[in-house]
Amino acid sequence: MKHTTEMMISAEEIDQKLDILAEQINAHYAQSDRLLMVGLLKGSVVFMADLCRRIKGHVEIDFMSVSSYGTGMTSTRDVKILKDVQSEIQGRDVLIVEDLIDSGNTLNKVREMLLIREPKSLALCTLLDKPERREVEVPVDFVGFTIPDEFIVGYGIDYAEQYRNLPYIAKVIPL
Ligand code: PRP
Ligand code: MN
Ligand code: MG
Repeated sequence: MKHTTEMMISAEEIDQKLDILAEQINAHYAQSDRLLMVGLLKGSVVFMADLCRRIKGHVEIDFMSVSSYGTGMTSTRDVKILKDVQSEIQGRDVLIVEDLIDSGNTLNKVREMLLIREPKSLALCTLLDKPERREVEVPVDFVGFTIPDEFIVGYGIDYAEQYRNLPYIAKVIPL
């Protein structure tokens, strides 16, 4: 598709938002030891890198890779684990770190998969939320930006694997 991109959220705005999110997360986990931040590959990598450096205390990071397949008849998707976390989840405070919640299918399934392993607590953090696109409800604890249903890229988010390296978030505009 022929397209162009247009900056929507600047690197400075992202930076300021991360300070706010980190403050909330640090306050929430002030009494916690060994917080485990779990990022979903690949989109969350850039956000995780910037966020985890603002979190205080003993923090560990880990990653999961999942893929979702449409089942055809319904909009609900089957989510398969391609790469699991290496960390023990049981008894831990776990914070899932995502770049974007769209339909909610990915996070909903990942949440269920991790809850089975009996974490001490499980919370969700997303940089971007597109509530208009939601198909399944997911409880989100920390949200950076709530955005309209726009096609976006950058800061880890791709269009056909491109643009993850953009330091800001941009709209994709078809030409
Ligand atoms: C994107 C995004 C979220 C997910 C959100 O990931 O990074 O993980 O889709 O969509 P949902 O709420 O409708 O499930 P994608 O599957 O494109 O993989 P990627 O992170 O490797 O780009
Ligand atoms: Mn993703
Ligand atoms: Mg993607």
